[in-house]
Amino acid sequence: MGEKLKQEAAERAVEDVKPGMRLGLGTGSTADFFVRALGARVRAGMDVIGVPTSERTRALAESEGIELATLDTLAELDLTVDGADEIDSQLSLIKGGGGALLREKIVAAASREMIVIADATKKVATLGQFPLPIEVVPFGLCATRHAIRAGLRSLGLPDALDLRGGDEHPFVTDGGHYILDARLGAIENPRQLADMLVAVPGVVEHGLFIGLAKKAYVAGPGGVEILQGT
Ligand code: A5P
Repeated sequence: MGEKLKQEAAERAVEDVKPGMRLGLGTGSTADFFVRALGARVRAGMDVIGVPTSERTRALAESEGIELATLDTLAELDLTVDGADEIDSQLSLIKGGGGALLREKIVAAASREMIVIADATKKVATLGQFPLPIEVVPFGLCATRHAIRAGLRSLGLPDALDLRGGDEHPFVTDGGHYILDARLGAIENPRQLADMLVAVPGVVEHGLFIGLAKKAYVAGPGGVEILQGT
């Protein structure tokens, strides 16, 4: 059921793709459906260029025959389509469940438009039930974790941080960094939290996407709902 809904949202987003577009290609199981649907359009003759947000998406897009580029040569994209772990009514997001948040945010920020695709389970009243991924450099991990925890406490938030993958075999992102997952419960002020996190040396990026998405296609049993941001 969930997979079918992800596919429906992805196929709705493909309808927004126009010939000649420069596209950011998201990461995750929902974004995979989009890349496959886009591949079908490309094989039918549509001319687009994609910038993948992860090595995983790069491999899939290549196998689908989609022409690829990077932001090393392209400064601006027309549209990015990506999944999310949580979406609130302002279209603020938590992303990074798949570990691709850094490239996802760079690509989304370089795009004129970002569309989120998701099944309805991702819609929440308040962000934070899903653990917030915080990408950090391996150097100084203990000190960085300590500083983040102090920052969380100063905002009245729980300071529980899990090193993704565990101490023995930490998960390593495409950029060579680690991820600390913050179990926050409810994030009442995402902007304040984002400002605190980026001020900590050693934090590379975090999974709060605020003000980036202006539209979301959310598929539920009753069809695809369109959420519009301001
Ligand atoms: C990848 O890092 C994430 O931001 C994904 O976009 C997010 O986890 C959604 O993934 P699914 O589409 O697999 O639920």
